[in-house]
Amino acid sequence: MSTMRTHTCGELSKAQLDQRVKLCGWVDTVRDHGGVIFIDLRDRYGLTQIIFDPNDSREAWDLAQSTRGEYVIQAEGTVEARPAEMANPRLATGEIEVRCDRIRILNKSRTLPFPLEGKDAEKVSEDLRLTYRYLDLRRSPMQENMRIRHRMSQAVRNYLDQADFTEVETPILTKSTPEGARDYLVPSRVVPGSFYALPQAPQQYKQLLMMAGVDRYFQIARCFRDEDLRADRQPEFTQVDIEMSFITPEDIYALIDGLIADVMKAVGKGDIQTPIPRLSYEDAMNRYGSDKPDVRFGMELVELSDIFEETEFKVFRQVVGQGGAVKAVNAKGLGGVPIRVMDEWTAVAKEWGLGGLAYIRAQDDGEWKSPIIKFFSDTEKEQLKERLAIEPGDLVFFAADQREVANKALGHLRLLAGEMAGVIDDDQFAFTWVTDFPLFEVGEGGRLISVHHPFTAAHPEDLALLETEPGRMRAQAYDIVMNGVELGGGSIRIHDPEVQSRIFEALRLPKEEIEDRFGHLIRALSFGAPPHGGIALGFDRFVMMVAGEDSIRDVIAFPKTQKAMDLMMNAPATVDAKQLRDVHIKLDLIES
Ligand code: AMO
Ligand code: AMP
Repeated sequence: MSTMRTHTCGELSKAQLDQRVKLCGWVDTVRDHGGVIFIDLRDRYGLTQIIFDPNDSREAWDLAQSTRGEYVIQAEGTVEARPAEMANPRLATGEIEVRCDRIRILNKSRTLPFPLEGKDAEKVSEDLRLTYRYLDLRRSPMQENMRIRHRMSQAVRNYLDQADFTEVETPILTKSTPEGARDYLVPSRVVPGSFYALPQAPQQYKQLLMMAGVDRYFQIARCFRDEDLRADRQPEFTQVDIEMSFITPEDIYALIDGLIADVMKAVGKGDIQTPIPRLSYEDAMNRYGSDKPDVRFGMELVELSDIFEETEFKVFRQVVGQGGAVKAVNAKGLGGVPIRVMDEWTAVAKEWGLGGLAYIRAQDDGEWKSPIIKFFSDTEKEQLKERLAIEPGDLVFFAADQREVANKALGHLRLLAGEMAGVIDDDQFAFTWVTDFPLFEVGEGGRLISVHHPFTAAHPEDLALLETEPGRMRAQAYDIVMNGVELGGGSIRIHDPEVQSRIFEALRLPKEEIEDRFGHLIRALSFGAPPHGGIALGFDRFVMMVAGEDSIRDVIAFPKTQKAMDLMMNAPATVDAKQLRDVHIKLDLIES
């Protein structure tokens, strides 16, 4: 194994009976049983029970008795079978123990700031864990997460290597590239007053690599985005970044279907059905009210506008009359939810822009309870019952508004309903492609904003709409979604310099800014750029979901807090005056 140990603490079994062995590790527990000392010795591979008897070696026994939790020791002895009644079937090494006559204390440990195992370990605050992250990482769930992450990145590398991809490292000190967040900036010493930006993604470099003829590129790439943090967002995170030449979206789907299936297999998560199903953005919004639908359960959004064109119920009739939509979800089996829950959901609906939340609770005896039912005709009720397949015990909730608002609100409530009904299986992994995203979002004053990024190619049929109805243009852009989380996204890129310039102009970027920020790219496109496209998978999110964690912080060795702080290193931090002078900076902090 190594010069200091013959085996790890997870390795010994009856196969090594009577062998002389040397183990190293941390003292997990020390117990004194009538003069004999038992130590559970721990390393990342497991636990081994070692015993010290004063009759074997008084000297070793003395030292063993002086050890405490988290001391680092080396112990030497002979492998013995445990008496049958002492065997521990829950431990890989549970059938043996090592009778030791030599021990070296390699290092002592102060009392830890928090327990690593047991009930109390679960209650430790995350800030404390992050301050002593190296101790937190000793815990077995964290060790396991790091192993899963490693196995997944290994599987990614193997898969892409076999598919003839070349891994290329791109710069970290670079120039701003738009991915929708703020940049992290690094001041230059050599050019006073100028700054590098850390990459939000290697987007432009990977496209330039296609123009360089690399053909198939990947990188397990660190990206930096200064944005508001959440459980699935970190200021620095990792992407599996991919770009290919001479492709259509079909090639991306096939490649990523295979990659996901391979990676899931590598971590023992079974066979993923491929091809992974696809939904257009429009269908995803209409059926699930989300561009990242959780398809592990049904409760789809149902269109009802036609039923309510002439209804007595004013709210619905008006909305339909103004070109809006009335839609509903049948939350099967939730007919018994208390009014209190409906009040909470109504508040949620209002947050999402609805005027209110109408609902029907179908009682077990078949009677419908609802504040609005009195307005519905018998025909309307019949049609509702049929279209939503309402049965006794169901809960139906309605949204009436502009189609987009109604969809989004119901999409959100659908998730709450799915959770409450307990129909979301945490052990299931459901992937979906969402395709044909819109190219632009229309912001204030008709201002266009790229939904993906400004290098994304339009749907070939839609380019003609650029000067007339840009809001209706579809992009050749796609997301891969896993259990309702956006796992990755990509697009076919613009490879015609003229089209690229037109898009920048449509985004109302001034000419000088286009030249300054993207001149190099437009030039590169004019020297024989192949058609190309790619995708990036959020690797931390992927690992988080495979590991069954709720936060990507639990699958990143040294993550930052919600306030983007590294509590262990105490970063960010002030720097001394000399360092600031070197980069020609004088601080004059502005209140914001
Ligand atoms: P996009 O911005 O969609 O695309 O990013 C790709 C994926 O990266 C993950 N991700 C994050 N993960 C953790 N913390 C963050 N702050 C964070 N931001 C994004 C998400 C997301 O789906 N250059 C394009 C890709 C391309 O077009 O090829 C890009 O970066 O899982
Ligand atoms: P009102 O006529 O405002 O008292 O509303 C009657 C019922 O319809 C209440 O349960 C409201 O919550 C609900 N409601 C009001 N506006 C909407 C809307 N835009 N979509 C769905 N339900 C609504």
